Amino acid sequence: MIDRETIGRIFDAADIVEVISDFVQLKKAGSNYKGLSPFVNEKTPSFMVSPSKGIFKDFSSGKGGNVVSFLMEVEKLSYPDALRFLAKKYNIEILEKEKTEEDIIQENERESLLVISSFANKFFINKLTKNAEGKAIALKYLQERGVRENMIEKFQLGYNPDYSTALTDELLKNEFKKEYIVSSGLASESNGKLFDRFRGRIIFPIHGLSGSVQGFGGRTLRTDKNVAKYLNSPESEIYHKSRILYGLYFAKKSIITRDRCYLVEGYTDVISFHQAGIENVVASSGTALTVEQIRLIKRFTPNVTIIYDGDEAGIKASFRGIDLVLEEGLNIRVLLLPDGEDPDSFSRKKSSGELIEYIEKHEQDFISFKTGLLLKDADKDPVKKANLVNDILRSVSMIPEAINRSVYIRECSTILNMDERILHSEVNKLRRNKLDQKWSSRPATEEHLPREIPSQPQVPAFVESVYSEYEERDVLNFLLRYGNDMLNLNEEEGEISVARYIIREIQNDELEIENLVYKKVFETVQELLENGKQIEDKYFVYHDDRKIQDLAVDIFTEKHEISKIWQRKDSFIEMPGDNPGTAVPKALLAYKSRIITKAIKETGDKIAKASREDNLEKIRELQSQFISLKEIQILISKQLGARTIISP
Ligand code: CTP
Ligand code: MN
Repeated sequence: MIDRETIGRIFDAADIVEVISDFVQLKKAGSNYKGLSPFVNEKTPSFMVSPSKGIFKDFSSGKGGNVVSFLMEVEKLSYPDALRFLAKKYNIEILEKEKTEEDIIQENERESLLVISSFANKFFINKLTKNAEGKAIALKYLQERGVRENMIEKFQLGYNPDYSTALTDELLKNEFKKEYIVSSGLASESNGKLFDRFRGRIIFPIHGLSGSVQGFGGRTLRTDKNVAKYLNSPESEIYHKSRILYGLYFAKKSIITRDRCYLVEGYTDVISFHQAGIENVVASSGTALTVEQIRLIKRFTPNVTIIYDGDEAGIKASFRGIDLVLEEGLNIRVLLLPDGEDPDSFSRKKSSGELIEYIEKHEQDFISFKTGLLLKDADKDPVKKANLVNDILRSVSMIPEAINRSVYIRECSTILNMDERILHSEVNKLRRNKLDQKWSSRPATEEHLPREIPSQPQVPAFVESVYSEYEERDVLNFLLRYGNDMLNLNEEEGEISVARYIIREIQNDELEIENLVYKKVFETVQELLENGKQIEDKYFVYHDDRKIQDLAVDIFTEKHEISKIWQRKDSFIEMPGDNPGTAVPKALLAYKSRIITKAIKETGDKIAKASREDNLEKIRELQSQFISLKEIQILISKQLGARTIISP
């Protein structure tokens, strides 16, 4: 749908280090960059970016790819959306073609909504800081609340003037379509007319992970109890409240470096924490915490501290949050603030140092938190105590790792003064029940079927020794990694490039590459050479075929994997490095040897079959084939040097 030329321009423009730096903190390491994997929780960096090859590789999760596959993974974008993301970042115009009507509608909707949001955001900012009404009422309100100017700027706070078409008039004047204005939720329609949703409200724009404005929250300036204090954007093509955490865009760097995320309730809590110098904070914005939100946090840290108001509602909310967070395998602590305080009011009274100190001193792991609270009103009542125990054990049973569960069970047994073994068996029972439920309710949808049929037929283990895929792969490694290097074979032939040599050898012997992806790479290289081109890493890393992309990324990042292959006890492959002149021919020989070995075995089988059928003529024919194959095998094994080939 996006034409090839544009895709090419996007890839040329996109600086992989720059793009990834928006998501992962990268440090230079030689000619590459390293950082903590955004896909798994880890302490030592195993995430690598190679700017020269245009690829990343995450050795923890095994994920790797080019700049587009990175965005697809980390932002969960589709391929075209990832390209659009880059096009936007690098100001490249996209010429779209051959789209279905539905595509066009959906994309137009997304894009239009993003454009409207961005426009409205600027409008609101302008009204807060430049407009008389905004300054007199809204800006004054914020100042009185102690929100400093740099925070107003950072969080792009705004104001929607207090008449019903302030924003709508401006949007219509700028020729935004009525349809999109309504679906953005910035206005609603009544009797064919549009009215501002956020009329007379302070605006908190809500940013996606990459910084685009996806929705808004608006706080009223009225004290009238009948007016909702906050209004939020409705669900739309760009705003899904269950998948957004307010403040994450501004917090992600600090969450990574501090390896902890504070979870608060509201917009003002987030801003006040920033103002107090603490930036690793996000808000669930009034909704109960969702699994998607927790997974968002998990990309950056496994450690969460929930900081909620000390009132009844705050406590209930944190209970709801806890089990979900536990189930996702996060480590969780809870901090209850003194009664009557919320994170906003509390942080205002403290310096950043004092605040951190207070949090670290008062945060509790969730078991002592929950037990302590519930124990208060259950102490003397056996029925209540039994309920409490069940309640706590249910939380513990949510924890995915057995070791962590044991730690908590031990703690419970101390606090509740109960036998550890009994608690253990109760937790196990709960876990079994949960699994049973999961399995019985599991629908047989497509989602549970294997997504893809492997391109290569699975070779049964007993014939693995004659399967040539490893050798094919070794040859392919040389082809892609050292293809442009020159070999000096002998006086007569002079110099030849590794790629030309490999292709020539394979063609001369009419060898058939078995792995279809490898085969396509060979054919592509052949085509490149015929057109007098060099082999470029990027050509393969950005190839249209996703399987080739993945393969190329593997090959270009597999330093340690290659050595693993070389350590295989039956491998003939040498490290290339100093001497491609012997390493490459050896790789080819090993490949050929594998094919011969395979052919010998097949011929042997055929002979056996022919003897069962008493087909003498056939036996004789096969035997002479068998002998010449054996001769070739001996020849090859001599060339391969000291190591002998073990025939099957
Ligand atoms: N919220 C909401 N709708 C409401 C009330 C609250 O969406 N009617 C969300 C907002 O994201 C709000 C959060 O819940 O920030 C916490 O609510 P609350 O504690 O009432 O608001 P504060 O953030 O403390 O706002 P303020 O200090 O301005 O009263
Ligand atoms: Mn408040």
